[in-house]
Amino acid sequence: MEVVASIVSVAVVKTGEALCSTIKNIAKSPQQLHVLEMEKKSLMALRDETTKEIERATQEGMAIKDRATGWLKEVDELLRKMNDQIQEAKSSRCFLSCSTKRCRISRDVAEQLKEVKRLLEVGSSIASSVAHSYPEVKAVEHIPGPSIQDQTASVSEDLAKIMTLLSDDKKGIIGIWGMGGVGKTNLVRNLNNKLQKNSNLRFSCVLWVTVSKKLDIKKLQMGIASRLGFHLEQSSEADRMAIQLYRRLKEESFLLILDDVWKKIDLDKLGVPRPEDHSGSKIILTCRSLDVCREMLTDVEVKMSILRDEDAWQLFSRYARDVVSSEHIKPLAEAICRKCQGLPLAIITMGAAMRGKTKPELWKHALNQLRRSVPVAEGVEEELYRPLKWSYDSLEGKDLKTCFLYCSLFPEDFSINIDKLVWYWLAEGLIDDRENYEVFYSRGISLIENLKDACLLEDGSDEGTVKMHDVVRDVSIWIASTCSEDGSKSLVRTGEGLKEISTTELSNSLKRVSFMDNDLEKLPDDSVIRWSEASTLLLQNNPRLELIPEIFLERFKALRVLNFSQTSIKSLPDSLLQLDDLRALLLSNCEDLEGLPPLERFSRLQVLDLSRTGIRELPKGLEQLSNLRHLNLAQTSKLEVVKAGVISKLSRLEVLDLSNSGYIWKEKGAVQEEEACFEELQCLERLQVLSIRLKWNPCYTPQDTITSWLNGLKAFEISFGRSSYFVSVRDLCLLSDAFQKRVTMEWIDLSGGQIVWLFSNASYLRIKSEGLNEMLKDLVINNVGRSFTYLKKLEIFYSDNSFWTGGLASQYELLPNLEDLVLVKMTGVESISELANLFGLRFQKLKTIHMFGCPKMKYLLSLGNSIRTMPNLELILVVGCDNIEELFNYLPLQINMAPDPITPKLQKLELVRLPNLRNLCRDEKTWPGNKVKVEVIDCSLLSTRQ
Ligand SMILES: *[C@@H]1O[C@H](CO)[C@@H](O)[C@H](O)[C@H]1NC(C)=O
Ligand SMILES: *[C@@H]1O[C@H](CO)[C@@H](O)[C@H](O)[C@H]1NC(C)=O
Repeated sequence: MEVVASIVSVAVVKTGEALCSTIKNIAKSPQQLHVLEMEKKSLMALRDETTKEIERATQEGMAIKDRATGWLKEVDELLRKMNDQIQEAKSSRCFLSCSTKRCRISRDVAEQLKEVKRLLEVGSSIASSVAHSYPEVKAVEHIPGPSIQDQTASVSEDLAKIMTLLSDDKKGIIGIWGMGGVGKTNLVRNLNNKLQKNSNLRFSCVLWVTVSKKLDIKKLQMGIASRLGFHLEQSSEADRMAIQLYRRLKEESFLLILDDVWKKIDLDKLGVPRPEDHSGSKIILTCRSLDVCREMLTDVEVKMSILRDEDAWQLFSRYARDVVSSEHIKPLAEAICRKCQGLPLAIITMGAAMRGKTKPELWKHALNQLRRSVPVAEGVEEELYRPLKWSYDSLEGKDLKTCFLYCSLFPEDFSINIDKLVWYWLAEGLIDDRENYEVFYSRGISLIENLKDACLLEDGSDEGTVKMHDVVRDVSIWIASTCSEDGSKSLVRTGEGLKEISTTELSNSLKRVSFMDNDLEKLPDDSVIRWSEASTLLLQNNPRLELIPEIFLERFKALRVLNFSQTSIKSLPDSLLQLDDLRALLLSNCEDLEGLPPLERFSRLQVLDLSRTGIRELPKGLEQLSNLRHLNLAQTSKLEVVKAGVISKLSRLEVLDLSNSGYIWKEKGAVQEEEACFEELQCLERLQVLSIRLKWNPCYTPQDTITSWLNGLKAFEISFGRSSYFVSVRDLCLLSDAFQKRVTMEWIDLSGGQIVWLFSNASYLRIKSEGLNEMLKDLVINNVGRSFTYLKKLEIFYSDNSFWTGGLASQYELLPNLEDLVLVKMTGVESISELANLFGLRFQKLKTIHMFGCPKMKYLLSLGNSIRTMPNLELILVVGCDNIEELFNYLPLQINMAPDPITPKLQKLELVRLPNLRNLCRDEKTWPGNKVKVEVIDCSLLSTRQ
């Protein structure tokens, strides 16, 4: 730039001299022209330099001064004009005789020289500063909104948590997620404002960007840029902007807050350096779905929880004002607040909607509306329901949406059993029904996980269940009854104590109807009820309902799912047979139901649940249900006959549940004529889960075909004798990650029994029978050198003997994978070592030991050569063993052996009623670890030191 400037000044001087001669020196015109050309060159050089400078500055996102662009424009204009005229002058040299013309040219040259001189002068100062410099960036900008002082304790806690994360260098991207309306924006806003007051802020700037549902990268870029006070050309490509933004952000140690993110934002495309590549910077994002966090590769996710009761009430009263404390309104207000289940948005909207309303009637009305999931006021629909509906709208795929709506058919605060939900979805055609049980079940689980990640479902109160937040459920019902995707409506009136269904409500556009958990005494039976398209009808748990009128079912011909469980019906009307499309007929717990009409017409039926009914024999025509996949006959204690060749014809059957049924299967040869035998079950080639009772016959060893069929199942429970507690098929398959194969033997005489065929694939064995010792002895003697690798859990109850001592000691390990050991009322046993010696156990995989009421027990286990540590043991529970003195002891001569930590993974030790327990272990240095949670009750000799 300096070089150019000096050229310019020389040129200017020369121009000045040349000008003196002016018009008189017309003869010198060609020379003057020469000067002008030189000046022009200088100007062009200056122009090029300036243009480059502008380009550079633009790339850095700096704003170009108007003066600079204006100057460039002027220069270009002049140069263009000059070019034209110089051309003209050159070509007119031969006409010099014409004085007027000469005169004009000369005058023009002079003028132009003047102009060039001016532009050169102006330009020399512009070229060095074409752009505005960056303005000073404010570190934090205040975001208006209620401040934390007015907020609840829960918000303060969450805020403190995030503050801690901000000072953790390893947490570059922090995801804050939670359901709509739970207060995520409020939280980050308060965080932002708190940082503003922070005097030693570790960020040079905190950038706040609201992303919102429709992701617009360019808009975000412009937003960040303008916050940083630098300029992006709106017209340029997003990629170009990204480069500029990136360069600029690299100069800062920033905290970027991305509020309300709905889908993945590609940081590279946005132009934001990743915190991992740019230390000192962090990103916080808020979103409704854990999926978004995952996609954004967050380093830590904080799930925002709903408000605690006190907080909720405090917030509600603040918005609804003092009226809430008046005597007649308070209970109603509390009920309304409870309905919001701690969701701040709901509380605030409801509070504001009821603000200052002094008439109890208005509150009563609002509560009633709420109970029916109707938006109480216009504001509620706009501010609560619609925002929450966005979560629904953003679910991917129509089926997932329908699955979500389906969950609202269940009562408020109801824990929905996942397994059953999945069967419903299957029957409704929401899950591909060509897949087998295992596959479609995992499909169901993944749908549920999707909904959970979107905060539309949450874990239920028991394992294996899910439920809906009350407000979400209201919104779901509202969507289903007004604006669902497929145009279908639902009618949900659950748990309202209804005694009747009003026929007017059953309009014909209903797709799903739920009157579950009411007090219905009768169903509409007049011909006024209209024909309905409904595919699901849930009437379960109406204990007084005794009769299903013929005409009622006639109006529901499109049904796929019908649940009449837990009613007092004694029979089903013949009109049932007209439901050609039925997939799931659920009649569990109808204890008065003794029989069904012939079922052969239900060729599409997939699920038949007759558990806990009073049926005495299988329904007629059952064998023709060629699509039946799940037959539930659990706890049918009156079922005593199963005819041969009925169940075995159900070629698609995947789950057969006869647990605790009255029917006891026997092997071929032991059955009466026409009675079904155990062997015929192997015709069920698709079966995956089986639960039956089998008659104990000590000498029975089935053919290999049977054992290999049995071993091929995913899960089974075979129970011999009188089973004392009930394991549902669901527990077999779903509660643990692994499918279980259980064998229970209760109240039978085991002596001399051949049970290897059963043992070989079982994962869980429960024995509560006589003859235990003989059986175990046989087992050990006859199986030298082999092991039962699948067995993970062993429970032994009630035995008076000690274990047979001639066992394997430590030569072979019969149960190498044992994880859980339960011994109850083993009155002859002195220590677990007896069992260990018998089976050669080394307990390397053992996770839990439970020991109840073993009065002779002196110590739990002695340590020595074969067992020195139990590397995986997590829990020890010992209850009511009167004589136990210590938990572990060492075999003589081995006391000095330096032991490893005996139980490095122990987490919990519970000792209850052990009056003689003195020591945990002789070598206390090694035991127990310090992270162990110890609970000691009624162990008077155990010094508190331990
Ligand atoms: C039908 O209703 C009963 C009673 O509430 C319930 O136990 C069962 O799970 C329901 N069936 C299905 C498939 O959900
Ligand atoms: C036994 O069960 C396991 C899983 O529990 C399975 O992988 C194996 O193939 C089964 N069959 C035999 C013959 O062991």
